[in-house]
Amino acid sequence: MDHFNYRDGQLFCENVPVERIADECGTPTYVYSRQTFTDHFTRIRDAFAELSPIICYSIKSCHNLSILKILKEIGSSFDVVSGGELKRAIEIGADTSQIVFAGVGKTDDEIIQAINSGIGWFNVESEQELEQIDRIAGQLGKPATAALRVNPDVDPQTHRYTTTGRKETKFGVDVERARRVFNEFGKNRHVALTAIHIHIGSPVNKVEPYIASTTKAVELIRSLRKDGFEITALNIGGGFGANYEGSEAPPAKAYAEAIIPILRDVGLQLILEPGRSISGNAGIVVGRCIYTKSSGDKQFLISDVSMTELLRPALYEAYHFVWPVNPETGFVPPHRGRDLKMDSTVLMDVVGPVCESGDFIAKDRWLPLVARGDLIAAFTAGAYASVMASHYNSRPQAPEVLVEGDTFRLIRKRETYDDLVNAERSCLSNLNPSG
Ligand SMILES: Cc1ncc(COP(=O)(O)O)c(C=O)c1O
Repeated sequence: MDHFNYRDGQLFCENVPVERIADECGTPTYVYSRQTFTDHFTRIRDAFAELSPIICYSIKSCHNLSILKILKEIGSSFDVVSGGELKRAIEIGADTSQIVFAGVGKTDDEIIQAINSGIGWFNVESEQELEQIDRIAGQLGKPATAALRVNPDVDPQTHRYTTTGRKETKFGVDVERARRVFNEFGKNRHVALTAIHIHIGSPVNKVEPYIASTTKAVELIRSLRKDGFEITALNIGGGFGANYEGSEAPPAKAYAEAIIPILRDVGLQLILEPGRSISGNAGIVVGRCIYTKSSGDKQFLISDVSMTELLRPALYEAYHFVWPVNPETGFVPPHRGRDLKMDSTVLMDVVGPVCESGDFIAKDRWLPLVARGDLIAAFTAGAYASVMASHYNSRPQAPEVLVEGDTFRLIRKRETYDDLVNAERSCLSNLNPSG
C-alpha cells in the first residue's frame, strides 16, 4: 500500500525516521515517499499494458514540480485543469502533445496558452466552450484536438461533492446532447473532435461504475462511427481509489480486468487520468501536539496541523488515519481503521488551531495518550492535501519533503511571514493618503 511503516515503535518513511524530518524541517510538514509514487504508477501501467494507455497523472491531486518530474521520468503524461497546472507541466519539460486539458470553465487566456503550447486534447464540457476553442484555434491558425466530455449518468457510489458522472452535476453533456454536439462540431472545424471523455467521480472503490460508464461510452462511440465520425480515443478519467482505512481500494489490476474486455476490440487509444490512486498513499502530513485539553466529556488533541494543511475532513468529512509518530507506549496500530478502542487508547478529537469548529483532522478517534510536543501523523495525505492548502488565519504554507530510500530532501520550502505579506506590502503605497 505504501512505505510508511512502524519499526520498533517509530514511524518511518522508507528508511528515514519521520521524527528526523520533523526535527530538521519543523511541523507541520508534508512527507512523501518516492517509492510509493512509482509503485502505484507502475501498477496502473502494468495492469493496463495490453491497451498501451496514455497515463495522464492528474496534477490537481499533488502538483509539486519534483513529483511531476519523477512521474514524467517513468513515463507519465499529465491531466491539467488550469493554466497554472499547464505551466507546471511545461516547467518540468512534459511532452505537451500528450497532455489533456479538462475543466468546465477554461478562459480565453488558458485556451490560447494551451493551443500555443501544443497540448494533446482539450476535454470539452459544453457547446459554448467548443465554439470558443474553435474560434481561437482559427484565429491562431493552429488546429486543436478535443474530446467531448460525456456525462454517462452513472452513480460512482462516492461522496456527493466528488460525484461527477450523474446527470445533475455540472460536468459534461448527456449522451443525447453529445450526438447533437457531434452533428454540429464533428466535422470541418479548426478543432478535430475525435475523442470521448468520461470521469465519473472520485474515489470510486468499486469496478462496477467503470463497467457501466465505459460500456455507455463505447455504445456512443459505435453509433457515432456509424454516422461517419472518426473517434480515435477514449479517456475514462480518474477516480481509482486509495487506501485510507485498510484495503478498501481495489488494486489497479481489478480495475483493468473489468475495463479491458470492454475496450479490447474497439480500436481506441485509451487515456487514463489517475491522481489519488498514485499520490494518495504516497504522503503523510506530520504535526506536533501543541496542547491537550478536556471540555465536557470531550478530549481534544490540539495539533499544529489544521484545515489549512488538510482540508478534506472539513470539506467532506473525509477520513484520515491519525497516530503518534513515536507512540509513548510503543503501541503501533494494528491497522488504519476506526476501530481501535483498547485499554491503552482514549477517545479524542484531533483539531487544529484555526478559528473554525470545522477545523478538525480526526473526530472521535481512539488514540494512545499524546503529550505536548509529541509528533502525530495524518496518513494518506499525498492527494488533495498540500494542493488544497490555504493561508486562512495567515498561516504560512507548510514545506514538502521527499524521501528516497535512506535520504530526504526539501521539495518546497516553508513559507515565511514575509512571503505572506509581500504581495500586499508592495501595494501599500497605492493607498490614497487622504483615505
Ligand atoms: C476530470 C478529472 N480527471 C481526473 C481526476 C482525478 O481523480 P482521482 O484523483 O480520483 O484519480 C479528477 C478529479 O477530480 C477529474 O475531475
